[in-house]
Amino acid sequence: MTGNSDVERPLTPDFYDYPWTPPSDVVVDGDFLSIRWADGAELVAYKQWLRENEVGGGGVDVATREGLIDPAHIDDTLQIREARIDATGVVEVHWYPDDVLGRYHPGWLRHIADGSHRPESWLSDPVAWTSAELAEPPTHPADALESALPRLALVQDLMRYGFVRLRGCPTDSDHLAKLAGHFGPLRDTNFGRVWDVKADIDPTSTANTGLRLGPHTDLPTREAPPGFQMLHCVINSTSGGYSEMADGLAVANRLRAMDPDAHDILTTRRWIFFNRGAEIDHRWSGPLIDHGVPGSPLTFRAFYPVRAFPDMPADDVPKAYAAMRQFSHIAASPEFQVASRFEPGDVVMFDNRRVLHGRGAYDPSAGSRHLRGCYLDHDDVRSTARVWARRATIPPAGAAANVI
Ligand code: OGA
Ligand code: ZN
Repeated sequence: MTGNSDVERPLTPDFYDYPWTPPSDVVVDGDFLSIRWADGAELVAYKQWLRENEVGGGGVDVATREGLIDPAHIDDTLQIREARIDATGVVEVHWYPDDVLGRYHPGWLRHIADGSHRPESWLSDPVAWTSAELAEPPTHPADALESALPRLALVQDLMRYGFVRLRGCPTDSDHLAKLAGHFGPLRDTNFGRVWDVKADIDPTSTANTGLRLGPHTDLPTREAPPGFQMLHCVINSTSGGYSEMADGLAVANRLRAMDPDAHDILTTRRWIFFNRGAEIDHRWSGPLIDHGVPGSPLTFRAFYPVRAFPDMPADDVPKAYAAMRQFSHIAASPEFQVASRFEPGDVVMFDNRRVLHGRGAYDPSAGSRHLRGCYLDHDDVRSTARVWARRATIPPAGAAANVI
């Protein structure tokens, strides 16, 4: 595809439509193109990156909208021959030596200048909560996932608070997988795709007893513990066994304010977590408050039943125990705990890496309690949340919508 400005081809290297926001000025500055808008926004784009993102002239494939240029084949003699804004507002870059005319949607360029291309964009920012802010779980109707605006409201609460509840759902055994399917594929584990929590099966974990479960996150024994967990109450005729939630973000903030050294120990000293079983041997070493690499979701590795070995110098172990005790004490205090009774037909969905969940003890001989549970990965739920948020704000791009 060479320098024809009237050839019809898509202007965006993705499948979104963008508001039409022509820049006021484009200036070539050596190997960079500076794209400026009248309100002061600016995108400084490197020539090779612009070339890679040109659609239909060898940069991005029209059908897949994925990049085509193997880095080994990047032309190091590439130069911007000329750049301009055409009469409609499209940014045109004429390349040397291959004579391609790259045409760029001004709204696509602008969304990068605005930071809306970043992974965290389109997702509601997390808001730390205590029981004062969240007396009740953020509750949504059983059919919220069936339509665009209710499901967006639900997923925004999920991103904001890391926790939502659906009430009045059917209690049939395949309902949970159906609900979860709205967000993406289930994350399978050694518990199975969908698992049961009840006291009358042979207990291979504390969950399947009537014992209290203190504030915890599931499967800190994995490099990437499951991102979200759903628990569906199918039967509950017991009087105890309340669901208990605390926001790890708020708990960590409080610990940092009260005792910065304890917070520092929990973010830096590691423990080996271990799921033991005849056929499994899952282990991971990480801190209790795990910040991961920049941009990783904050992960609380907080499940004492599977915390197996300190992985730190012996001198640090007493401090680590003291810090952990403080952390769990804060998490279990009424100020941070939101307790609610599980009614049959309730589904709670929460960020398993952020929210510490637990349950009160109950007497299995005084009634039945049966939950069904499943996991999903952050990646899938966040991808779905972005798509729902973008669809609600900007209609999906029809084939003709971004072709001029
Ligand atoms: C679990 C769990 C909560 C409950 O199975 O990991 O935390 O309410 N269960 O039984
Ligand atoms: Zn659990």
